[in-house]
Amino acid sequence: MSKPRYLTGITTSGTPHLGNYVGAIRPAIASSQDDSIDSFYFLADYHSLIKSYDAAALKKSSKEIAATFLAFGLNTDNAVFYRQSDIPEIPELTWLLTCMASKGLMNRSHAYKAAVAQNEEHGERDPDKGITMGLFSYPILMAADILMFNANKIPVGKDQIQHVEMARDIGARFNHHFGQHFVLPEAEVGEDVAVLNGLDGRKMSKSYGNTIPLFEPPKRLRKLIMKIKTNSLEPGDPKDPEGCTLFQIYQAFATAEETTAMRTNYADGIAWGEAKQVLFEYLDNILAEPREKYNELMANPQKMEQRLLEGAEKARAISVPFLQDLRSSVGLSPLS
Ligand code: TRP
Repeated sequence: MSKPRYLTGITTSGTPHLGNYVGAIRPAIASSQDDSIDSFYFLADYHSLIKSYDAAALKKSSKEIAATFLAFGLNTDNAVFYRQSDIPEIPELTWLLTCMASKGLMNRSHAYKAAVAQNEEHGERDPDKGITMGLFSYPILMAADILMFNANKIPVGKDQIQHVEMARDIGARFNHHFGQHFVLPEAEVGEDVAVLNGLDGRKMSKSYGNTIPLFEPPKRLRKLIMKIKTNSLEPGDPKDPEGCTLFQIYQAFATAEETTAMRTNYADGIAWGEAKQVLFEYLDNILAEPREKYNELMANPQKMEQRLLEGAEKARAISVPFLQDLRSSVGLSPLS
């Protein structure tokens, strides 16, 4: 039996924060260290072009995300870690799949529908105002990422399930017309993975500007933690850990025993300032070592570059011959 193959992409926009770590990075690092599975992780830099026209920001985010994965110990002997734009077979496969994807399917994509809904809300006369073909057909690029490597399991957030289903549809249609080439992937949504709230109590997200970046210097980390919104209960008042952002972040990092102890502290009326100080010290302690590695990698990016290129080489050992095969299956082959 061959190993199950896991594959996921990380869009290179923004600086990785605590929410990204708990939701996506930590599980990816764990799978990379598990040799009973085959894992593929990549910087989805073509995807980030859909939303950003800021070249410097794209480059900065790619560097930060690569450094974060490596600083936390991604095992690149076991996992294939690469940059999407180093695999020219992906855009080529995107075209083959574009010709297999029905336009109606793309019309139903949540990302596109949300953009249209926003235009309608704003009373725009053209519902497609500002919507590029990149946004419209982005599920096809994502299908190419997945089908290129015949991945079985795609660890994603709930918002991406539809895209994985579209990849199945498109892959199945290709198989129907041109023979059995693609494995049909399944989304894997980690039910027990915590979704962290941010400084203001809403979901931690770059788009809300409420994030706590992973590798801020300690002083800055402390300052951000002190900003986390709490209520006006006084020291000595019993406090409810449920729905408390501070508690939720602590719980996502601490052991079960530590969490139980913190629950008791809440019941005993720990002051908010003290709870924040405890969280700060806890995180600072956990993050100190990876932060040092991160800073080192950021200062010497040529080492990361080298590792990404090695990853691309491993990925292309698969994508080059596979694309050749796909090309000939559709009739793109030498005349004789
Ligand atoms: N679209 C995904 C996101 O926004 C990122 C992504 C790109 C991806 N290609 C992928 C995820 C392939 C899984 C598989 O989160």
